This record gives sequence, C-alpha cells and structure tokens, in this order.
Amino acid sequence: MFITICVGSSCHLKGSRQIIESLESLIKEHHLEDDIELNGSFCMGECMKGVCVTMNGTLYSLKPDNVEEFFNKEVLGGLR
Ligand code: FES
Repeated sequence: MFITICVGSSCHLKGSRQIIESLESLIKEHHLEDDIELNGSFCMGECMKGVCVTMNGTLYSLKPDNVEEFFNKEVLGGLR
C-alpha cells in the first residue's frame, strides 16, 4: 500500500509534516512497516482543502487531528 502526502507549501502550512510523523508512528505501532510505504509529493492542485493525501489513487483531505481516524478507517480497513 502506498500513501502519498502532499508537502507543497500550502499543505505544509496546514500540517503535512505533523501528519507524516503521526502516520509513521501509527505504522510502527501496528508493525506495518513492510506493508505501507509513505511518500511525499509536490502540490497536487487541491490546496483549498486540508492536507492532501492519496492512498492507492484515492484522494483524502486530512488535518493533523483526524489522521488517526483516517488510519483506523481507511488504512487498517483497506488492509483487512
Ligand atoms: S500544496 Fe498540497 S495540494 Fe497544493
């Protein structure tokens, strides 16, 4: 599974760094280092929303405070 996080300037200001760190620790916590690959990307052209994150081609718009919800629902849900 590939998760790509936008690190363009607008998403950076909305907390993409924090989102990457949260995802990294959630991945570690669940021992999913071999199953999930995190990548950064430049602007995805959706700056109006939250921090842009794509997973297997689907675009999500995250905030630092809903990363865990996204992880539990979409990431863990998608792996099951
Ligand atoms: S900076 Fe992230 S979509 Fe534009």
